[in-house]
Amino acid sequence: MNILQWHQVCACDDIDEEDVMEFEHEGKLYAVYHTATGFYATAGLCTHETARLADGFVFGEVIECPMHMGRFHIPTGAAKGAPVCVNLVTHPVKTEDGNVFIGLAAD
Ligand code: FES
Repeated sequence: MNILQWHQVCACDDIDEEDVMEFEHEGKLYAVYHTATGFYATAGLCTHETARLADGFVFGEVIECPMHMGRFHIPTGAAKGAPVCVNLVTHPVKTEDGNVFIGLAAD
């Protein structure tokens, strides 16, 4: 069974609403989003050709990849159509004392 470990990403104020920030942990990239419905996190690389999603654009609850404009639903990671067909892995997020934390499985 994997144990979840929480890692501080940034202050809540550091990510504007409808924006995304990259977070790196142990050589892996994650994308942390601030939407009107809260904070979310997914894998940091697009499932199409591994572009960095933190360089993309947030529209409501959708992230658009900067390379070929593939779109994913941020809360679920669901791919929304060509050219992306593989969903993003999502990760739990919590806010505490004005900071954003991502939950990652500990080894
Ligand atoms: Fe993201 Fe192609 S690399 S849509």
